[in-house]
Amino acid sequence: MTIATKEPAFVTGKLVYFVPPADGSKPYTDINADIKDETSGKNWTRQEHILEVENLRGKEDSVSLDVNGFLYAKSPAAHRAFNVDADVEKEYYPESIELAKKLTGASRVVVFDHTIRRRRPDQIDNGPTKRQPVPLVHVDQTPESAIARVHRHLPAEDVPKLLSKRFQIINLWRPIGHPAYDWPLGLCDYSSIDYKKDLIPSTLKYPDRDGETFSVAFNETHRWKYLRGMTPEELVLIKCYDSQEDGKTALLTAHTAFPDPSTPHDAPLRESIELRLLVFYD
Ligand code: OGA
Ligand code: FE
Repeated sequence: MTIATKEPAFVTGKLVYFVPPADGSKPYTDINADIKDETSGKNWTRQEHILEVENLRGKEDSVSLDVNGFLYAKSPAAHRAFNVDADVEKEYYPESIELAKKLTGASRVVVFDHTIRRRRPDQIDNGPTKRQPVPLVHVDQTPESAIARVHRHLPAEDVPKLLSKRFQIINLWRPIGHPAYDWPLGLCDYSSIDYKKDLIPSTLKYPDRDGETFSVAFNETHRWKYLRGMTPEELVLIKCYDSQEDGKTALLTAHTAFPDPSTPHDAPLRESIELRLLVFYD
């Protein structure tokens, strides 16, 4: 692969935002709908924005979970084969739990699922085994769905105590196989988000239940960042929820995959894994 000799400080990204339904109804997405076109299984539309995305290569330490909502770190994983889910659960989960504890200071970390994404140009994202990068600005949880996750994944007798202290949902995202120059993950600095105005709770219809995520409406205040050519030795923690609503702490990170015009023409297609973590503090 061509080695880029010069790191761009900014790139121009085409970022896709959510546009709410015109009739004021609650947005929904039916994840099981047959995807025939743009309108299948949903009552909302999309809008592209051409925006500057800052490349944090060389400035990885300038962002943190509590100020910006996300954190870059370098820590190679011992587990490197991601084709068998049972192995990922047995080997990659435990080392990631320890890593997340070390990076956050949390006392208990529980993985509640993982997603492997491989970009396949010209195919639509069809089903749980064929996930692709997500080209839409979003936040994985709302406060309601974050708390529902604790009830779903932890013993009922532990829940009151766990929820009485600080609790977060954090994704641990890393490239697999090769550096992710292709369709990297852009992250929106929390301090540039207007929580009340930009974030719209939206229903995710699963076959057996409803989940809820935040869709994100465009605001020209948004400041976007990414780490160009993230390697499998690197990872980003993406905060999706934080119970510490003190008016200062970053509560979440809107994020999206985007096509990077500075991607070397022969870069391999992006492959990545994200773990979803319940993160508890004493
Ligand atoms: C995530 C996510 C999308 C992608 O990790 O929560 O939205 O393209 N990932 O990797
Ligand atoms: Fe996400």
